[in-house]
Formats: sequence, C-alpha cells, structure tokens
Amino acid sequence: MRTQVAIVGAGPAGLLLSHLLHLNGIESVVIESRSRAEIESTIRAGVLEQGSMDILTEAGVGERMRREGALHHGIELAFGGRRHRIDLSGLTGKAITVYPQHEVIIDLVAARIAAGGALLFETSQAAIDGIEGTRPTVSFVHEGRAQRIEADFVIGCDGFHGVSRPMIPADLRQDFQRVYPFGWFGILVESAPSSEELIYARHERGFALVSTRSPTVQRLYFQCDPHDHVDNWSDDRIWSELHARLENDDGWKLKEGRIFQKNIIGMRSFVCAQMRAGRLFLAGDAAHIVPPTGAKGMNLAISDVKLLSRALEAFYRKGSEEGLESYSRDALKRIWRAEFFSWWMTRLLHTFEDATPFEREVQLAELENIAASTALSTALAENYVGAF
Ligand code: PHB
Repeated sequence: MRTQVAIVGAGPAGLLLSHLLHLNGIESVVIESRSRAEIESTIRAGVLEQGSMDILTEAGVGERMRREGALHHGIELAFGGRRHRIDLSGLTGKAITVYPQHEVIIDLVAARIAAGGALLFETSQAAIDGIEGTRPTVSFVHEGRAQRIEADFVIGCDGFHGVSRPMIPADLRQDFQRVYPFGWFGILVESAPSSEELIYARHERGFALVSTRSPTVQRLYFQCDPHDHVDNWSDDRIWSELHARLENDDGWKLKEGRIFQKNIIGMRSFVCAQMRAGRLFLAGDAAHIVPPTGAKGMNLAISDVKLLSRALEAFYRKGSEEGLESYSRDALKRIWRAEFFSWWMTRLLHTFEDATPFEREVQLAELENIAASTALSTALAENYVGAF
C-alpha cells in the first residue's frame, strides 16, 4: 500500500488526525491492533475543554457531542467537611463538556468510514522502518496476510505501550516520569446524577471523584492501592468507602445504584521529549501521560494532532518543513503545562501515605487558600478549562 501519512493507532489522536488531514486533501491509512467494537466500548476519561470542543466541531464531528455531552460551568472541591464551588465560566468565560472518550471515538470512526477512509482493525505485529529516509514504512499482519504501507510520514498514536515510542533513538530522547503510589478505583453505576457538577474530594481516607456519563449512568472513582484487585471490593464495601469520603453533615447524599463495571487504573506522569525522529512523529499517550486528576489526557491528544495536521498541511501545500521542525517543541510547551497542572491537582487532593502531619496540614491550607482567593481559584479554573 502507498499513502501519504501512515497512522499507527485508532484512538482520539490517530482518528482525529486522519480526519483533519482528509479535510485538507491529505491521504492517510490508520492501523489499529484492537477491534472496532473494543475501541468503541473501552471506558476512558471524559472531559473536553472548550478548545477541544471547537476543534471537533470545526472538523464536523461535534454534532452528537454538543447534543449529548453535558456542558459544565463549574466544579466542586470537597475538603475539611465542606464543599467549595469553582465557577469555571464566571472566572474564565469558558466551560467544559463531559463526553466520554469512547463516544468521541464512535463519532470519529463513523466520520472516517463515511468519508471512505482507510481504517484497518485487528492488525498485529506492527513494525515501523526507514524513518531516517523519505519513504518510511509500517508493516503488519491483517486478516492473516502480511502487509506493508509505504508513506511520506509515520505518526505514532498507539498509546503508552505502543511500538512507536521505542523507535525514537535513545540518544535523541529523554524520558521524564513520576509513578504515583496509588491508583483510582473506577465504577460505572446505573443511577441519576448525585450532583450537577463534578466533585473532587480530598479526604483523610483518600481522594474521591463524582463524575457522570449520562442522565442514567454515573462514573465514580476513589483512590486505592494500585496493586489491589477489583474482586476485593464488594458493592457494599465500595459504597461505604464512597459515602465516607464524599458526604459530610450538609445533608448532601450520594445516590447508589447498580454497579455494572469496576476497574483500577494506575497513575503516572510521563513525558517523552523528543516527539520526533526523522519521518516519525508521536502524538497523544504514545508521547505523554498525565494522571486523570486534571482531566487533560484526551485534550492533549487533540491539541497534539491539531499542531501536527497544520504542520503536514504546510508541508504538502507549500513544501514548508517549519511546522514539522517545531512540532515537538511547540507541543511540549502545552504538554508540560498540563503535566504541571495534573501533578498539582493530584498532589493537592490525594492522601500520600508517607506525608508528615505537617504536609497534611499544609495540603488542607492550600485548599483553604484556593477557596478564599479569587486569584488562586482563577488559576485553577484557567488550567482546568484550558484557557491558554
Ligand atoms: C471521568 O468522568 O472519567 C473523569 C472526569 C474528571 C476527571 C477524570 C475522569 O478529572
């Protein structure tokens, strides 16, 4: 096969890039190791910044997001037995939309297929070659047959465990990492929302988060041991932990319902700098990971491919390599700020077992400061909505 841009991975980054390129007359082929059913049903994060919504809308894939996504104008911080609202829209003029990643994927897959896009699922043994020349290749097995795509560029959008990042030579590359000593236990629940807005709770027993998926399905998380197992948590044990961390004496009650999915996710911060080697470029989780506390993961994937699509358009239209040359530097500027914010929110809200009594008190004092100060609340809100 011959194409202009070979894209490895059909997550939000790979699919959106393929679609943005298509809208500019640039041809691509996307390969994905999982099945369509699997990528369309895997539960991941769910928060879109205003800028991400705008990009999806401009790409013509925002219609269902606007109709079914929930626009949120604030979030709540719960700590010290009370709740404090951060007025995102009042402080920044912007809002966020809760619209799960797999729904974004469903919309993007539909758009790619409707446009006749080449999208190959259930590929195996993907390997990238020739990135130092001008004809890099991606080889793989699809439906039992060995295949090879010859392209001008290869874009690695295949996530943290993909084959793309290891292709960036070690001498070009510096990895930055922090692994947190806790995970999130996530559940999906059949019930009406307990709260109109997301609640981020700091509690001595550990962090908890009240999020939503739809008027009838809710998403809840609580900090746990990353090595724990979902089978150790009966529904009763989960509910009593969530009640203990989220409720105080103001009369607000968490709504229970049938738990139909449980999972544990690890928490890490990770950045791979360089995001380019020759004709290979990385985007999304292939290059960086944020802990979910800042709700930035999908937004970073979207902003990476926005930059990349512009750079590739300039290359094909004007022969300019300027955007390709500066891609890694430009993307990393935004990535590091999101890394900072996600790390900061994580540190602010979680229980660290090795924290001294002094550190626990200043953690609470920092939350008190944010609640009391318009300046600090605004800084949190600006970061959360992606105001810059
Ligand atoms: C989610 O709904 O899955 C979610 C929301 C906010 C976060 C993380 C995850 O910060």
